[in-house]
Amino acid sequence: MTEKDFIPDAYSSVINKGKATYKSPSNIALVKYWGKKENQIPANPSISFTLDACATTTTVSYRKLNVKPSDFSFDLIFEGKPKEDFKPKIKTFFNRIEQYLPFLKEYHFSIETSNSFPHSSGIASSASGMSALALCLMEIERELNSNLTADHFNKKASFLARLGSGSACRSIQGDLVQWGDHAGIEGSSDLYAVKFPNEVHPIFKKYHDTILLVDKGQKQVSSTVGHDLMHNHPFAKNRFDQAHENLTKLKLVFASGDLDEFIEIVESEALTLHAMMMTSLPYFVLMKPNTLQIINKIWAFRESSNTHVCFTLDAGANVHVLYPESEKEIVYQFIKDELVAFCENGQYLCDRIGFGAKKM
Ligand code: DP6
Repeated sequence: MTEKDFIPDAYSSVINKGKATYKSPSNIALVKYWGKKENQIPANPSISFTLDACATTTTVSYRKLNVKPSDFSFDLIFEGKPKEDFKPKIKTFFNRIEQYLPFLKEYHFSIETSNSFPHSSGIASSASGMSALALCLMEIERELNSNLTADHFNKKASFLARLGSGSACRSIQGDLVQWGDHAGIEGSSDLYAVKFPNEVHPIFKKYHDTILLVDKGQKQVSSTVGHDLMHNHPFAKNRFDQAHENLTKLKLVFASGDLDEFIEIVESEALTLHAMMMTSLPYFVLMKPNTLQIINKIWAFRESSNTHVCFTLDAGANVHVLYPESEKEIVYQFIKDELVAFCENGQYLCDRIGFGAKKM
């Protein structure tokens, strides 16, 4: 498929007003997207677990305008209050997607959105937020064109979400989602994410992610700045090649259920992401002392307990602790006994693999 396949034909119905609501989850990358080309095309393929509890719920109410305005007409309510500072991001998003949703200037939209996780938790809401909004807009398109197939709906929702925030394209479906062209994964595309199409061992069907909030402050490096750091980065080519190789290896791991190999790939990906930031110009250290304390504790506990707990990181100091269902008691006890002390105000979020966005 190409971008052109997402430009709709003339709509078959006329709708004057309506409302769409979606709850869309966050996701955690196992092979990381870090570096992009023009139009939100990823520099390398990535794969993620869709989460369950960390989610954004968005309602879009729409009303047809009598005269088509020169600019988009919308207001934004975040957790019950108008939120002017989110509007420029939405406007940029609308500009990027207008050619694919030609009805955007024909309506006034009231967008009401809220997150299940605390606003100042340091958890990025762009993946869940942009995917929820893209899904609501697709729901409007479905009203205007009743012939949309479920497959096209999902692909286009992911395609649009990607134009809002790259990682958001992996939040439409569950449970294991892959984005970006990869030779070994049929149907993979740079334009949208797909449900991982190959065999997945049952051990990966129920995985836990406990998110340790080490630093709840604003992100030190925005993702836009972060991705830009990969332009002219001395290690960029090797890193992009490595992501392809890691995905090839993970494909085998997902089939076999080999957790030792899983841990090696996932932790290496997290540390490589941070290594890219440490070796770019300008350079950043996004881990905090407590991030490292937690990593060392996880390594020591894994060794002594013979469990398969491991970690991954986003572009910040928080730690995602990953473990299979069969080890949840022992690992959760360890988290409470030994890791929570390193969290800001002792805060953490318990999440697990989820199965994608839901229409409400
Ligand atoms: C480190 O999706 O936030 O979480 O496309 O600029 O919105 P934009 O970036 P974003 O980048 C996420 C980077 C990451 C890794 C990942 O989720 O794959």
